[in-house]
Amino acid sequence: MIGNGLRYRSDAPAMLTAIARAYGDVAFARIGPTSFYLLSNPDLAHDVLERSEDHFERIAGMRRVNERIVHEAVFASEGAAHAEQRRVLEPVMFHEAPRTHAGTVVRYARRMAESWRDGAELEVVAEAEHTTRDMLVEVLFGLDPAEPDGRRLADAVLATNDALNAILLGATPLGDRLPTRGRSRFRRRLAELDVTLADLARRRIDEGLTGDDVLTMFLRAGDPALSPELARDHALSQFRGHLGAGALLGWAWFLLSQQPGAAERLELEADALGRDPAAADDLRAIPWAMAVAHETLRLYPPAWLLARRTTADHRVDGTTIPAGSRVLISPWILHHYPRWWNDPEVFRPDRFEDPFRNADRLAPGYLALGLGSKRCLGIRFLPMEVALVVATVARRWRLELRPGHPVEPLAKATLRPKHGIAMIVRARNGGRPATR
Ligand code: HEM
Repeated sequence: MIGNGLRYRSDAPAMLTAIARAYGDVAFARIGPTSFYLLSNPDLAHDVLERSEDHFERIAGMRRVNERIVHEAVFASEGAAHAEQRRVLEPVMFHEAPRTHAGTVVRYARRMAESWRDGAELEVVAEAEHTTRDMLVEVLFGLDPAEPDGRRLADAVLATNDALNAILLGATPLGDRLPTRGRSRFRRRLAELDVTLADLARRRIDEGLTGDDVLTMFLRAGDPALSPELARDHALSQFRGHLGAGALLGWAWFLLSQQPGAAERLELEADALGRDPAAADDLRAIPWAMAVAHETLRLYPPAWLLARRTTADHRVDGTTIPAGSRVLISPWILHHYPRWWNDPEVFRPDRFEDPFRNADRLAPGYLALGLGSKRCLGIRFLPMEVALVVATVARRWRLELRPGHPVEPLAKATLRPKHGIAMIVRARNGGRPATR
């Protein structure tokens, strides 16, 4: 048993790692008023998140946060409703969206790279967040972020998300209803966004559902058809899921800047294509870029902590976890554990020999994109996105860490670089992409 809220708040991954190392694969702990079971073994993670997932549900607090913005959609649903939603959404998110929008990702990556200048200093997380967010407005909603409609929507989604993050979660659903300025601001923003997106969904229906944005794909996919409201909420769930992508790209460029051999291999691979990647099929020609994406997700998993609540007594490793208990599984702990990885602190993309396999099947101790029926719906889109962006940039630029810039992970809802990542842009081939 451990009671140590203060230490936990300052460095949660380190504190949980200390618990796992001291108390083993199944550790019961208490931090302040909260008690939980921390499981730190890949097999137990696969049991909770996949094999026995019907004994587990999302913890109430997490579901309430998601429900606020996506209502009954995939990030908040459970049981049969969740399974039915996944049946409709997975073919779109695992196949149609990545195939259709690989070119869109590259177009935004090229636009970003072509705006850079040799010797310029950039905070690459903010740069990547701005670019990937704009890309997502086009991919998810079919709007051009440079146009007023697209700009308005991009700003509205972000403002709503920021307003949500700014309000503290009440200890009980009742607490959530207490009127505060933050909550009324969030409700106002969400109401505006809900109307804008529901109107957009209806417009897509009136246009005959011919577009190739994800919202339209969702509206086409359902049988019976999804309501405009539910399709809207599923699309917003993807936006919410995607929030860590900018930080992930920042981590990738940081790691490459610390390993010139890895950066050079990426550049040679990207040059060998003789042009920017243009379609999902081009991924096969950039396996190292895909391996860089996974190895970055391993070393700096944005979703560093997964949480569940037992809905029935459940036995793990000789311990019975009573119904109603909180169970934590930390991708950060498993990814940095020498028991499961050789030299876990070393950036070695070649660990992932076949980087095209689904992330939930790449290695037992690799959980960056989750497992089971709640695994990430971006499980195909995200590694593709990171690989295409780093390859497109590597054809033009090499990024160097600004001397003396402190790089440190900060774990909150997601894991991000505490001080951002300041880098210097260095031209390759004069900043023009190499051609064969
Ligand atoms: C930085 C990148 C990302 C990371 C680290 C990440 C990680 C994860 C993880 C670990 C889960 C499972 C959570 C759990 O089991 O409790 C998840 C769920 C989800 N992710 Fe991602 N994700 C990322 C990007 C994306 C992208 C790009 C999309 C969509 C385009 C997306 C959509 C979703 C959705 C909708 C869910 C909820 C699935 C469900 O509950 O059925 N994510 N993500």
